[in-house]
Amino acid sequence: MTQDELKQLVGQAAADYVNGNVPEGSIIGVGTGSTANCFIDAIAKTRACYRGAVSSSLATTVRLESHGFKVFDLNDIETLLIYVDGADEINVCGAMIKGGGGALTREKIVASVADMFVCIADASKRVEVMGTFPLPVEVLPMARTAIGRKLTALGGVPIVRVNKDGAPFITDNGNEIIDVKGLSITDPRALEAQINAWPGVVTVGLFAARGANLCLLGTEKGVERIEYAQHA
Ligand code: 5RP
Repeated sequence: MTQDELKQLVGQAAADYVNGNVPEGSIIGVGTGSTANCFIDAIAKTRACYRGAVSSSLATTVRLESHGFKVFDLNDIETLLIYVDGADEINVCGAMIKGGGGALTREKIVASVADMFVCIADASKRVEVMGTFPLPVEVLPMARTAIGRKLTALGGVPIVRVNKDGAPFITDNGNEIIDVKGLSITDPRALEAQINAWPGVVTVGLFAARGANLCLLGTEKGVERIEYAQHA
């Protein structure tokens, strides 16, 4: 199977999971990226069963609305049973690197509110030690260079994300992203807390303090279901 076919497989598996476990009339938290898009397209078939969705990016909002979903402001939501999203890497504990699509801050906010985080990923995303995928860090533009120096001191190689035209990539929140290559992340929780504490960092794309509860992993043999014990 191609990577795209595996993404479609887990997108459908997540829709089946939501349809089987989330009460009708609920609001669903929805992530960002090509795998999350597969989930949106699959859950659209049962859209009428849900009140609507909370979105993690402007791109996801557009896609949800194109399928007729009502998109709620997170401020108007009291509880969120489930959040479904992809990942760039996921380890054996359910900690993830996210932010390849640049939506890490809103993803982390919505995930923090949800009772359950369901990660959907193709098998290439499962790793023993995270860090092969460059770690995204969203920063306020004025802190870009100062944060870059700190990331270098950690042993990483910070690269400011740019668009095809060479201009800095700007997030939905008006900030920039530094992608950090060359890290071997053996203690994701500690590194998440350390980088988050630096002035100017908006969000680090490590999702370890609030990792996944469940991963639906697309493999050649079908969808593997992996549950994790999360201790927030
Ligand atoms: C976006 C994300 C995505 O979930 C992550 O980049 C995976 O994307 P894809 O499903 O396209 O491989 O964190 O900010």
